[in-house]
Amino acid sequence: MKKTALITGASSGIGLELTRIFAREGFNLLITARREERLLSLKQELEKEFGIHVHTFTVDLSLNDAPIAIFDFVKEEKIEINALINNAGIGDYGFFKDADWSRLSVMIDLNIKSLTHLTHLFLPQLMKYDKAYIMNVASTAAFQPGPLMSVYYASKNYVLAFSEALSNELADTNINVSALCPGPTESEFQDVANMKKSKLFDRFPVASSKEVAEYGFKSLMKGKRVAIYGIANKIAPKFISLVPRRWVTAAVRKIQERK
Ligand SMILES: NC(=O)c1ccc[n+]([C@@H]2O[C@H](COP(=O)([O-])OP(=O)(O)OC[C@H]3O[C@@H](n4cnc5c(N)ncnc54)[C@H](OP(=O)(O)O)[C@@H]3O)[C@@H](O)[C@H]2O)c1
Repeated sequence: MKKTALITGASSGIGLELTRIFAREGFNLLITARREERLLSLKQELEKEFGIHVHTFTVDLSLNDAPIAIFDFVKEEKIEINALINNAGIGDYGFFKDADWSRLSVMIDLNIKSLTHLTHLFLPQLMKYDKAYIMNVASTAAFQPGPLMSVYYASKNYVLAFSEALSNELADTNINVSALCPGPTESEFQDVANMKKSKLFDRFPVASSKEVAEYGFKSLMKGKRVAIYGIANKIAPKFISLVPRRWVTAAVRKIQERK
């Protein structure tokens, strides 16, 4: 029986590249996002190229019942999920006082709630296999507070802490849990988060989504609990832990400030 990977946010960026990699590695797929045409054309491309089976499920994951809708679909279609890739996420640039609440609320529901709910729903199924995988896409934003993207940084801090704790709880099981922490990466993220005015993407090297996804896949297979992409990104959290948190927060603010 072929393994199936459930990948959220498969319609662009890191999730799209992860999808291509899982297909190349022989996984069947269940891919989700809101933009149906993209999912359908990806299905067509990957089924043709790799001879795998791809299910698509179009869904807004910020909605309360979305994880249950995916879970029910998996049951109905008798799909055997042995890899859960919680990748979908958005950011929002600007001062908290100026932020639109509905957007912050969607971000929290997507970045935190749906990821946690999907993990809770699929964990019993994942535990049935000889080998299973959970990847949660966090960020280098997880390691410090982020003025001008305060809720986003905090949401990724949650993803990292949750993943590390889960990895500990599941250490003597068949499941590899990995938190992928990319730094600035080329994708639609910057546009969606309205980050054009931030200096972040000008100040730091920007990786391609493909590089990040290849690293994330390899790390997940190896069972790396926290997978930080890039040498500078790997060193930064060690350095940050030695410096007063107030200074670190002030430095992030400088980097995030308008050009
Ligand atoms: N790019 C970076 O610099 C960077 C750095 C660190 C971490 N990350 C993290 O990497 C992950 C992937 O982001 P990316 O950079 O690849 O950005 P992206 O190109 O904007 O991709 C985001 C994906 O999430 C999906 N998505 C967004 N809102 C959704 C919703 N309400 N319901 C369902 N799906 C939704 C999008 O699909 P639809 O629009 O079709 O729904 C898309 O497939 C995110 O968790 C992000 O926080 C990114």
